[in-house]
Amino acid sequence: MSTKKITVVGAGNVGATCAQRLAEKELAREIVLIDVVEGIPQGKGLDQWESAPVEGFDSRVIGCNDYDRAAGSDIFIVTAGIARKPGMSRDDLLKTNANIVKSVSQEIARVAPDSIVIVVSNPLDVMAYVALQETGFERERVIGMAGVLDTARFRSFIALELGLSVEDIQALVLGGHGDTMVPLVSYTTVSGIPLTQFIGPERIEALIERTRKGGAEIVGHLKTGSAYYAPSAAAVQMTESIVKDKRRILPCAAYLQGEFGYNGIFLGVPCVLGAKGLEGIIEVELTDVETKALMSSVDAVKDTMSNLKSIQ
Ligand code: NAI
Ligand code: 2OP
Repeated sequence: MSTKKITVVGAGNVGATCAQRLAEKELAREIVLIDVVEGIPQGKGLDQWESAPVEGFDSRVIGCNDYDRAAGSDIFIVTAGIARKPGMSRDDLLKTNANIVKSVSQEIARVAPDSIVIVVSNPLDVMAYVALQETGFERERVIGMAGVLDTARFRSFIALELGLSVEDIQALVLGGHGDTMVPLVSYTTVSGIPLTQFIGPERIEALIERTRKGGAEIVGHLKTGSAYYAPSAAAVQMTESIVKDKRRILPCAAYLQGEFGYNGIFLGVPCVLGAKGLEGIIEVELTDVETKALMSSVDAVKDTMSNLKSIQ
């Protein structure tokens, strides 16, 4: 059992599922679930704690509306905000969620100034920037979750296409968390064998397109919200690498300071996650096509950044 304290902000679909996954993996001694809505975090937290005897975990889940209960947390997972509805782009969420993430970040800095923050709220790359600004933390302690999810979607679609185990599919999706994300075919293998030896370019392009639209595909089915099982699994995998100091290389949104030739924006890149948070960025070589695709993704993130500045 880890002795960490982890707070999940937002007790909605992603947040509550994160809390349950954290507890079942015993990644913290105490898991605090915070929401603005009275009763929801208390009810969900208690319900999760009541599953402990059956599931066999001792992580204590506590729901509340008060940040003082989160004081001294080692890690925060920020899922507060509104989710996408059908026809809504991630950018439509910009203004509402920027205000929410701003206030949440200020509370985090107040009650746990040494913590590490994993941002999930959308539009992801820009919300991570808001959290970095408002907490005043160094970039090692503010990381965005998107690449693990986007890569998981790509891997799951490849496994379906090939009829092979997901466990043997390795892939890397970089860039912003939006339609311009960049699945890297040159780093996609099946047990080390390049994907290009299994299927041709047209099928690969179709899988890439499905991955880019992966979030919208789920919204189209659910109609009243967006994905949360895979997103929570992704956020918890990042958390686990930090809690256990595993130093896994995971695609995450990191604040770039010259890496890949970009500065002053969050972008999905291969990150080393360990006890200190972001412990390194791996600058992988890209083909010309991938370099251009990453450039378009950077432009998309910059557009959202300037929209944010114009409404602030
Ligand atoms: P949800 O609507 O189920 O839950 C959001 C929760 O945030 C609600 O319970 C709401 O009351 C709470 N909330 C609102 N303002 C708050 C505040 N100031 N403090 C604390 N809690 C507050 O939404 P869901 O599905 O859990 O998604 C959460 C966010 O995560 C959305 O912005 C969504 O777009 C984003 N998301 C991002 C993904 C990624 O890959 N980065 C993947 C999936 C979701
Ligand atoms: C997703 O990709 C909505 O960003 C969220 O599912």
